[in-house]
Amino acid sequence: PLVLHVLGARPNFVKAAPVVRALGELGIRQAIVHTGQHYDALMSDVFFADLGLPEPVANLAVGSGTHARQTAALLTGLEDVVTEQRPDLVVVYGDVNSTLAAILVCAKLHVPTAHVEAGLRSFDREMPEEVNRVVTDALADILLVTSPDGLSHLAAEGVAAGKVHLVGNPMIDSLFAALPKLDPAPPRERLGLPQRYAVATLHRPANVDDPGSARELVDGVLAVAEQVPVVVPLHPRGRTRLAEAGLVTGGNLKIVDPLGYVEFLSLVRGAALVVTDSGGVQEETTMLGVPCLTVRPNTERPITVTHGTNRLVTPQSLPAEASKALADGAAIPAGELPPLWDGKAGPRIARVIEAWLRADNLSPAS
Ligand code: UD1
Ligand code: UDP
Repeated sequence: PLVLHVLGARPNFVKAAPVVRALGELGIRQAIVHTGQHYDALMSDVFFADLGLPEPVANLAVGSGTHARQTAALLTGLEDVVTEQRPDLVVVYGDVNSTLAAILVCAKLHVPTAHVEAGLRSFDREMPEEVNRVVTDALADILLVTSPDGLSHLAAEGVAAGKVHLVGNPMIDSLFAALPKLDPAPPRERLGLPQRYAVATLHRPANVDDPGSARELVDGVLAVAEQVPVVVPLHPRGRTRLAEAGLVTGGNLKIVDPLGYVEFLSLVRGAALVVTDSGGVQEETTMLGVPCLTVRPNTERPITVTHGTNRLVTPQSLPAEASKALADGAAIPAGELPPLWDGKAGPRIARVIEAWLRADNLSPAS
């Protein structure tokens, strides 16, 4: 049997690495397709290197575009690869456009699918990711859930319980595997930062695409930079708009290119505070015990608020919340960490897939 992983964007690589490793340990034949949704070396190659991911069998080079254009390129490219490779199971990750396209293509080709990180919901359909999540979970055959709230969301949407498995969070497997390499000193020195600093990452369309929203956000970040030096490894999406809104290097603020996985998490580990609108960074800060302020009206990862170091803030409340977090530090309650975020999600996922492959689910050709 052949398991095919469809990966396209930065967070996909982080989630897939532990699953690929665990399937490999079970001797299951597998291959990776890179859709090329992310293509800059700092958004893609560096993750394959840092995470030890094997070379993809194909790179579809779909690149960027409007949602329709990018998704259309993903659909046609993936239809060809899936038809050619004839996988017994396709594994998709997270909530990006590559995930959506892969699940649609497989549903139409009658190729079974597994969705890693099923069940997350922000209940905000203005987020492109929320649309991708709902469609992906409606079509997936195996739903691999990272936190217990996902189980109730899927049940409420009528997904049969037999398809759903609570397996924990493979992104945390990658974090744990990298932990021995996470030393804040080298990136801090390279970037000329003092001992005490904050890290900010910003790329959500609702924050960075509209000039008005970008300006409010930048004003909030500039006010944080009056309290503590802030380094911003900037996602390409926000580059132009945020710079126009005043997010430029100077004084206490340093704008840099996106960082590789190990270098980024090293900086986060040593940070006094993280400001973000990322999904994954909310989870990683929770596990590293670093206070995290998420500039969003909602989160599909509420467990990082109830069981972690995360707080939702507005651009307006950000400066005051930052000053509180900087004063309280670890007093932001770490609490009880999310269940099954223990570095063993990859092996759990691999066992679910192995059992599924054994249970007579193979295509006639394999
Ligand atoms: C995508 C995901 C988002 C995820 C993010 C992770 C969707 C709908 N969105 O958003 O959920 O949080 O990835 O980082 O799938 N660009 C480059 N170089 C690259 C990639 C992108 O310059 O290697 C620029 C292009 O100008 C492009 C823009 O970034 O238009 C957006 O890229 P895209 O992949 O469409 O969406 P992201 O904002 O990265
Ligand atoms: N990340 C990274 N370098 C950076 C910013 C983020 O390696 O400069 C990592 C981060 O640690 C996490 C993943 O990228 O593992 C999250 O990706 P992103 O924030 O782009 O996407 P989201 O999680 O919001 O979908």
